[in-house]
Amino acid sequence: MNTNTKLTDKFKRSINYLRISVTDRCNLRCVYCMPEEGVMPVEHSTILSYEELLRVVGVAVRLGITKVRVTGGEPLVRRGIVDFIRELSHLEGLTELSLTTNGTLLAPMAQELAEAGLKRVNISLDTLRPEVFKRITRSEGLDKVLAGIDAAIAVGLKPVKINVVAIKGVNDGELLDFADFAATHPVEVRFIEHMPSRSESWDKSRLLSADDILATIATRYELSDELAQPASAAGPSRSFMLPGGGRIGVISPLSNHFCASCNRLRLTAQGKLRGCLFSTNEADLMTPLRDGSDNNELARIMNEAVLDKPKGHSLDDITEATSLQMSRIGG
Ligand code: GTP
Ligand code: 5AD
Ligand code: SF4
Repeated sequence: MNTNTKLTDKFKRSINYLRISVTDRCNLRCVYCMPEEGVMPVEHSTILSYEELLRVVGVAVRLGITKVRVTGGEPLVRRGIVDFIRELSHLEGLTELSLTTNGTLLAPMAQELAEAGLKRVNISLDTLRPEVFKRITRSEGLDKVLAGIDAAIAVGLKPVKINVVAIKGVNDGELLDFADFAATHPVEVRFIEHMPSRSESWDKSRLLSADDILATIATRYELSDELAQPASAAGPSRSFMLPGGGRIGVISPLSNHFCASCNRLRLTAQGKLRGCLFSTNEADLMTPLRDGSDNNELARIMNEAVLDKPKGHSLDDITEATSLQMSRIGG
């Protein structure tokens, strides 16, 4: 039973959303996320087991977490992920269970994921062109991602959202292609401002702002007023309808950040709780999970991490990349 004591931070933000990275491994090598050779995968023993993850989520739900998103790295590369999703879906008090994936492995798994209790999926796809896909991800596989999107729709995962990191000189020529995709598929395409992560790949001059993206889309499609988000879905995205029914959105962590309404906590694959994507403050849960500490101790650490959650980031004046490791933190 969710006793729902409500996690509230110092700034009166109610924290009800936990993002769990289940692995730092990935089968792609996106330029803004990983070096070509990949990151040194951490030892298996330093990754939380599913049992440990379930224990953490159980305590988090007792404290007031109602939404869980499973991320990575690429979560579908971790063996046993479907059974893990099934276990999560049985947790009483969890009202939303979602997954963020690069989509390459999704097509053959979509049906079993849906049957295991997954409700919805966000799929990362930055281009619709095979040669650009190869340039961004340093891998093949666009056709597999497109098949993954079709499969997600076919098995009734809903809504299906497509995350497009928008980068000048890389995929800015495809904004209207993606709008066409949104107009012809039952998905929401969300354009994300490129956050400074790996130093080699981020360059302020290549930033495409959400407003610029919307202005480009508006040259072909008349956009609706911004759609109101139900309070329960408070998230970073602003969404709009296209005439005829498609849906697009923008996520603007840089030009208009959403820290004031941030409702998230993150758990890294190595058992570190993080209050903010951009803060290096982390609270260790792995040690207490493995030294016999009880759930009250885990709850105490979670409460402390919530109280430590910073007010926000100040990327507005950032000019250089950071060492943000998306594959480890889970985006
Ligand atoms: P929905 O619940 O479907 O809106 O998903 P989401 O936006 O919470 O999750 P998703 O994994 O699809 O993330 C989309 C983009 O938003 C990614 O680029 C994330 O890194 C970014 N994002 C998600 N949460 C945060 C956050 O708390 N801060 C910042 N700066 N970016 C975030
Ligand atoms: N800026 C914006 N989004 C990013 N993602 C990964 N790195 C970045 C970045 N530097 C996105 C992925 C995925 C989500 C979890 O985070 O494309 O959609
Ligand atoms: Fe893998 Fe996602 Fe990182 Fe790309 S952005 S390398 S798909 S974890």
